Amino acid sequence: MRPTQASFPATRLRRARQTAPIRALTRENTLSVDDFIWPVFVRSGEGIEEPIPSMPGVFRRSVDKIVDAARDAADLGIPAICIFPYTGLEERTEDCAGAWDPDNHANRAIRAIKAAVPDIAIMTDVALDTYNINGHDGFVENGEIVNDRTVEALVKMTLAQAEAGADIIGPSDMMDGRIGAMRSALEGAGHQNTMILSYSAKYASGFYGPFRDAVGASGALTGDKKTYQMDPANSDEALRLIERDLREGADMVMVKPGLPYLDICRRVKDTFGAPTYAYQVSGEYSMIQAAAQQGWIDGDKVMMESLMAFKRAGCDGILTYFAPAAARLLAEK
Ligand code: PBG
Repeated sequence: MRPTQASFPATRLRRARQTAPIRALTRENTLSVDDFIWPVFVRSGEGIEEPIPSMPGVFRRSVDKIVDAARDAADLGIPAICIFPYTGLEERTEDCAGAWDPDNHANRAIRAIKAAVPDIAIMTDVALDTYNINGHDGFVENGEIVNDRTVEALVKMTLAQAEAGADIIGPSDMMDGRIGAMRSALEGAGHQNTMILSYSAKYASGFYGPFRDAVGASGALTGDKKTYQMDPANSDEALRLIERDLREGADMVMVKPGLPYLDICRRVKDTFGAPTYAYQVSGEYSMIQAAAQQGWIDGDKVMMESLMAFKRAGCDGILTYFAPAAARLLAEK
């Protein structure tokens, strides 16, 4: 739809930009704290807040410190937190049994946050990479990342997280058939209110580099994830994946990474109208932070501009490491 306009000088588009109140009145999109899901990293120990060198301003926290972080986030009005475990090489095994251990760091963090900060929604990560000796999201058999056996493990992982009190299950593994299997297992176990936010269109991206440091997977990963994550050259395939996940019972869908894939966000929102989220991933975050630290860009300005871009592209929300900083800036205004 293109609005009909008189020609110049009857129409002067600059009239709508002349003052702050006029700009506010004609603004098409808004960014609010309600749009944020904050990804955080949990590790073993107590009283630990360990900086992640490749992600300035991001920490690995022990469970007690994650609870403090969740409380700060809730106080800022951030609606959801997403928990990723950091696991050292010594905590990783070929059978990935840690993934569905009810007492792994992630599940302990879920319980602790639920008890202390009931006002924040908790999202999880479902994939084997943080428990796998070789860093892959699925089991590896003779060099192949096998699908169906992995889905069985992901279902066990999902149930352990739901049992711990997770509100939103976040499968990031890209195996086929996992959403349907998780949904029916959740229904069968009495978790009919537990939601699924599927990482439906997740690309095999170079932008995940700092995250793999953060979770301890960089040293572990053998090879790449191209046999399960998407080819950055594809767009129609993203729509097929989203449609499939919605048909299998996903409540919400995600495009990942974020800024380089805004075209996908827009197509997904226009095609399905489902709750659509983007993940502004670690590499996107660290590029902005690094340039800001050098004084090459205004960090706050670029942060807010990058977050608004997701709203403009049709997203209902954004997973972003900037969530607390952006929430603070929004609260000041
Ligand atoms: C893996 C997972 C990844 C991220 C979230 N879940 C990395 C990967 O697929 O290797 C990346 C997040 C980020 O880069 O911020 N299950």
